[in-house]
Amino acid sequence: MSASPLAGKRIVLGVTGGIAAYKAIEVSRRLVDAGAHVVPIMTEAAHHFVGTTTLSALASEPVQTELWHNATSPIPHTFVGQGADLIIVAPATAKSIAAYRMGYSHDLLQNTLIATRAPVIVCPAMHTEMWEHPSVVDNIAVLRSRGVHIVEPESGRLAGGDEGAGRLASPESIVAAAERVLGPADLAGVSVVVSAGGTREPIDAVRVIANRSSGKQGYAVAAEAAARGASVTLVTTVSLPTPQGCRIVPVETAAQMQAAMEQAAATHDVVVMAAAVADFRPAQVAEGKLKKRDGAPKIILEPTPDILAGLGSNKRVGQVLVGFAAETDDLVANAQSKLDKKHLDLIVANDVSAPGVGFAHDTNAVTLLRPDAEPVEIDLASKRDIARVVIDAIIALRDAR
Ligand code: CTP
Repeated sequence: MSASPLAGKRIVLGVTGGIAAYKAIEVSRRLVDAGAHVVPIMTEAAHHFVGTTTLSALASEPVQTELWHNATSPIPHTFVGQGADLIIVAPATAKSIAAYRMGYSHDLLQNTLIATRAPVIVCPAMHTEMWEHPSVVDNIAVLRSRGVHIVEPESGRLAGGDEGAGRLASPESIVAAAERVLGPADLAGVSVVVSAGGTREPIDAVRVIANRSSGKQGYAVAAEAAARGASVTLVTTVSLPTPQGCRIVPVETAAQMQAAMEQAAATHDVVVMAAAVADFRPAQVAEGKLKKRDGAPKIILEPTPDILAGLGSNKRVGQVLVGFAAETDDLVANAQSKLDKKHLDLIVANDVSAPGVGFAHDTNAVTLLRPDAEPVEIDLASKRDIARVVIDAIIALRDAR
């Protein structure tokens, strides 16, 4: 199985003095989990917000702050930056952004930033007024024009109870940006649409028929495709954190998902149906709420459209169509028949009755089936690792054409 593009990479994590500094610890943990060697640098001001002990413990080596009397090297101002594969500044305050723009190398982090040829990701976090101030806007534009990657802040609650744009991007988004920068851009210029989550079919104004799909595997496929340079549309019934760089189309029912997928399939190069679409829905939706006093209702079900089969019949030349199969028995035979009937290029089959597999888990174990090829079994792995294998298979299919 291909490893994360972060595995074995030396990543300097610069933490500057903002409230969001505590989130840098989670960023560090995730980078280390992905196999990176994390070199943490804190500015003087960052010490007001987080202690060195936690960050040192969750990074790969102790925190460095000092330009002088540095135990790691007699020349830390160049040593750290020269050895880096990537530098991430998270959070980046207005002051640190201004210093970087000017090349004002007053501390170890700023020296490292200008003594490196490695790519740099800056993750700003500040109050809305500061984020929108012309000086910050200008500094960000200059950094961008120099090829610095900016992970834009999100909107939400800020320190002191304020609301607005300026909150540090989620650790997930920051790590995804790192994967994008260091990973192969082997889906650059390719458009991918992924469906995710279980559809919900209304019974009345408050009740639905749902299923146990969490959407996690679909989100992982979308995140991996985006990390590898694709432009990604995610048609989803759930509201997990939006993977960096994906366009979200929210839907709820099979009918809404069908409309969204058919529209997207007309323009996208790769179509992945990871959603668990309800096969049946109430033939009639009661207006308002059904009352208990009227007794248990008889619900007549009707079939929903098979979205994937429809996409298979209308597949455009060169388009890659991928389905998922949730099975509890005869995994390969059942998935094979779906692959054939729905005219798919690839089906990702999982035995949802096995431990740690499928719904709601963070792990999955799958078998990949392609027409005219032997099934490939992938043992239990994180959903992101499974997504990596699925994207590898999609690229192999495209290359073979
Ligand atoms: N699918 C779809 N529309 C449906 C049902 C399923 O597009 N109404 C898609 C799913 O998104 C998945 C694939 O078809 O990619 C297989 O779904 P699955 O639930 O495993 O199989 P079904 O075709 O529904 O057959 P069964 O439930 O009998 O196993």
